[in-house]
Amino acid sequence: MAGVAVELRDVTKAYPLGDGRTLTAVDHVSLRLPAGSRTALVGASGSGKSTLLHLMGGLDVADSGTIIVGDREITKLKPSGLADYRSSVGFVFQQFHLIPALSLLDNVCSPLIGKYTVAERRERGMELLESVGLAGRAKALPSQLSGGQRQRVAIARALVVQPDILLADEPTGNLDSHTGAEILELFADLHNKLGLTMVIATHDLGVAETCDRIIRVSDGRASMLENQSDTSYLEPSIPYLEPSKPEVAIDQDDIQTYFSVGQPAGMVRPDTSPNIVSVMAMMLAGSWGLTVTQRT
Ligand SMILES: Nc1ncnc2c1ncn2[C@@H]1O[C@H](COP(=O)(O)OP(=O)(O)OP(=O)(O)O)[C@@H](O)[C@H]1O
Ligand SMILES: [Mg+2]
Repeated sequence: MAGVAVELRDVTKAYPLGDGRTLTAVDHVSLRLPAGSRTALVGASGSGKSTLLHLMGGLDVADSGTIIVGDREITKLKPSGLADYRSSVGFVFQQFHLIPALSLLDNVCSPLIGKYTVAERRERGMELLESVGLAGRAKALPSQLSGGQRQRVAIARALVVQPDILLADEPTGNLDSHTGAEILELFADLHNKLGLTMVIATHDLGVAETCDRIIRVSDGRASMLENQSDTSYLEPSIPYLEPSKPEVAIDQDDIQTYFSVGQPAGMVRPDTSPNIVSVMAMMLAGSWGLTVTQRT
């Protein structure tokens, strides 16, 4: 099974915010992923990684631009053609999205319903469960599995359609680091064996480094990293303080005022409260990485 190239030309996707404004999730993105490549999409939360994956996989429709996957221009497909295309793509999600009431085997076979006989589906499903090391648990329910095992089943299900392209959205996001590493090994193994074109959206440096190219997504724009050893693309999604430690002066009078406003009368003796507050302020500031001195 040969991988296919993925190409986006000037693709834009905006969502209505409901108040007349729109939010541009993907902003004039052009990129080309060679057949058989393994690409990481990295960037802060809300930067547009999932939206890009959804557009590539036909789960969402671009507002403008062209998306070509293999020999199909998916931006030209009508809804029925798009549904066909979608069923040829392998998707893996952070939350696994297995059907709780179905056995592992039936979960894996579910994308094939209506396409083959039951026996054929089961044979193919068992092959895939075998390839992810879970053939012995075919009759188990998802609830009886660990997170890593569930993700293996989800990967087997993604592959049962014999996709040329596998799109994974934070596939290790719900797993501990050891289990995540095992899932990455499985991806690498499948990639080598099947020649799939893979695109993985991730916040995780370890995941990105297993890929052969890294695309940074920022505010809906995508750019290929020139220097692949540069890890600055992994922007933290929560703000952090610079490592330098600025000095902050706290005035005894300010503390006294703040404290008397913030506390019910009589709870703290006036002569001791500034000191208590100073200590608290210093502890708090210390945990923020600030150095506090007391102004005299
Ligand atoms: N269906 C939608 N309706 C409205 N806004 C959306 C929709 N899907 C995504 N967005 C917005 O588009 C932007 C990009 O979202 P997206 O899910 O692609 O980000 P992300 O990079 O995958 O983030 P995360 O790392 O948190 O998964 C965000 O601001 C998000 O709120
Ligand atoms: Mg996302």
